[in-house]
Amino acid sequence: MFKNVIVRIPSKHISEGITSANEGKPIYEKALVQHENYVSALTKTGVNVTVLKPEDDFPDSCFVEDVALCTRKCVIITRPGAQSRRQEAALPDMVTTLHKFYDNVESIKEPGTVEAGDIMMVGDHFYIGLSARTNQEGANQMIEILEKYGLTGETVPLKEVLHLKTGLAYLENNNLLVSGEFKNDPRFSKFNKIEIDPDEAYGANCIWVNDYVLVPAGYPKVQQKIENLGYKVLVVDTSEFRKIDGGLSCLSLRF
Ligand code: GLY
Repeated sequence: MFKNVIVRIPSKHISEGITSANEGKPIYEKALVQHENYVSALTKTGVNVTVLKPEDDFPDSCFVEDVALCTRKCVIITRPGAQSRRQEAALPDMVTTLHKFYDNVESIKEPGTVEAGDIMMVGDHFYIGLSARTNQEGANQMIEILEKYGLTGETVPLKEVLHLKTGLAYLENNNLLVSGEFKNDPRFSKFNKIEIDPDEAYGANCIWVNDYVLVPAGYPKVQQKIENLGYKVLVVDTSEFRKIDGGLSCLSLRF
């Protein structure tokens, strides 16, 4: 179960966020409303939500998931691979907040890069995507730190998506949403795989929070599959975040 969540209010320059999508620029005011609705949905799951102030100089800074890996033993502050995002991990209010929750605070060092959107937690095991943002050195450091605390990690090369969790979501109880390049990956054959159709690929980025699953609005087949598994579903509109390659998981740290 998760007790705590950290989020950051979107920057007023969110329209300048990094993107590979061709869907126009996010509308700041709409992003703020969607973010408030996201926080409301999380609150319904019983977690305490810490809301950090906007950091207007960092257009992607609402995607707090990338700056830290929160485990049940320690937190590991990352070193984002995207140059424009690197300083997000050192923002003082984030670092202070993580220290408030954790006695054991570790960090990824140069030349390692990691964005924790590339890391999927399954119990005490962590799948680490090797992507344009997370390099082998960063993954090696991450695994070494995890092992120091009795946790484990393994790498997963990825080619098609931005982050590992763009295409995978672990919903606990052995249930794994899989899309695209991960559908036939033998690493995931032991899971009860719920395959996401290509026309709803963005919908693979759901989050499990305390027996609820947050599902992005507009992906009815994904929603139905999750409801069929017996989860309580909370639908949240993330259309403005999608325009800059962001989704439900990117918007929070959950621990
Ligand atoms: N725009 C989110 C990212 O590229 O990290």
